[in-house]
Amino acid sequence: MHAFRYVGDQLFCEGVPVAALVRKFGTPLYVYSQRTLVERWRELDAALAPVEHLVCFAVKANSNLAVLRALAQAGSGFDIVSRGELERVLAAGGDAGRCIFTGVGKSEEEIAFALRQGIYCFNAESEPELERIDRIAARLGRVAPVSVRVNPDVSADTHHKITTGTYADKFGIAFEEIEGVYARAAKRRHLRLRGVQMHIGSQITTVRPFEESVRKVAPLAQRLKDRYGIEFFSIGGGLGIVYNPALASGDPAWWQTSEGRRFLTAHRYAAHLLPLLKPLGLRVLIEPGRYICGNAGILVTRVEYVKRTGRKTFVIVDAAMNDLIRPAFYDAYHEIVPVTRARPGAHMTACDVVGPVCESGDFFCKDRPLPPVGEGDLLALMSAGAYGTVMASNYNSRPLPAEALVFGRRAALVRRRQTVREVFAGEQPAPWLR
Ligand code: LLP
Repeated sequence: MHAFRYVGDQLFCEGVPVAALVRKFGTPLYVYSQRTLVERWRELDAALAPVEHLVCFAVKANSNLAVLRALAQAGSGFDIVSRGELERVLAAGGDAGRCIFTGVGKSEEEIAFALRQGIYCFNAESEPELERIDRIAARLGRVAPVSVRVNPDVSADTHHKITTGTYADKFGIAFEEIEGVYARAAKRRHLRLRGVQMHIGSQITTVRPFEESVRKVAPLAQRLKDRYGIEFFSIGGGLGIVYNPALASGDPAWWQTSEGRRFLTAHRYAAHLLPLLKPLGLRVLIEPGRYICGNAGILVTRVEYVKRTGRKTFVIVDAAMNDLIRPAFYDAYHEIVPVTRARPGAHMTACDVVGPVCESGDFFCKDRPLPPVGEGDLLALMSAGAYGTVMASNYNSRPLPAEALVFGRRAALVRRRQTVREVFAGEQPAPWLR
């Protein structure tokens, strides 16, 4: 089922018209489909059914408490990268015993907190970090479960800002050095070697890089299992989604939103990887973020002005790069559709859709054919469920947008719009300025 689709001329999220959500909650507004979130999670869970496994949602992609709770209820584990993310998981009813803690810069305080909460495993990224975890565990009289992130030196064919699995990246420990690291870690009394982990990058749309890296790391995982009795192999996240349905299908009807035509399916991913993973007899963990929530969310924005210069048509909307930074940061493509569908045969004009922020990087698309739009019309930026709100900022003192969750015919505000007062609530003049 397509969660975002037109019924008549109205864009719906599941059973709710997007325009009705805007009447209630205003714009800019993020809207999430709970059904899509849970379906995507279940798809991966089912695809990995032939092996013991845990799908750990990468909280960094979307950390709204309602999103986390829906996934926790479905049975999800979580991949976290900070104390803040762990606290969110706990507040949403998730279980620290199903969380893995990744990241190159865990602080002492974060390690102690996660250890006290009973984290399933720390994914360590350096030897100084293993030393620190061991020391903190000793102080707390505990044994810390750890895995080490191996950098397989495989290129992920994705945007250079989101590739992580080559030696030019700051992540993990080089493949050639990893066994020495395990040997030294095994001597530390307060560490328990529980697994091995890797992650090669994000928005990867073909199976090849996943297959290549699993093929490379699987024999290592086998040796670590034989030597130290590790119990899991986390193969990371990174599964890509379709942002541009026209590219995915060759169908130029891009304005007819078409959820679900992804390059990479859970089924194909599993079909290629399971034969390599099954013989290991290890628990398989995956850490997908975008695949689960990317197509489950949209950002709805209202047109403020249409400005025609000699050369261009600018559609100026009330959302900006501070609400969704992906186009500015990664030149990312987000499909843009009108909430009220244009009549068939409507004349298309090449437009730049831009926000109110004072930067030329504040755009959502350039020279993209759009049907006629005018002041007050609503547009939806599609596939904004991953790395949308979580990367939002208060730049230009713009309050963070509201978020709504839809389930069938029900809708709820799951984060109220920030107020301007809240934006500067923590600030004050220095005493000598009073
Ligand atoms: N595991 C680790 C260790 C990661 O670093 C990441 C993402 C994931 C899992 C989840 O990756 P996913 O399945 O979502 O691709 N802000 C960028 C993406 C940054 C990804 C960072 N790491 C974007 O908007 O494209």
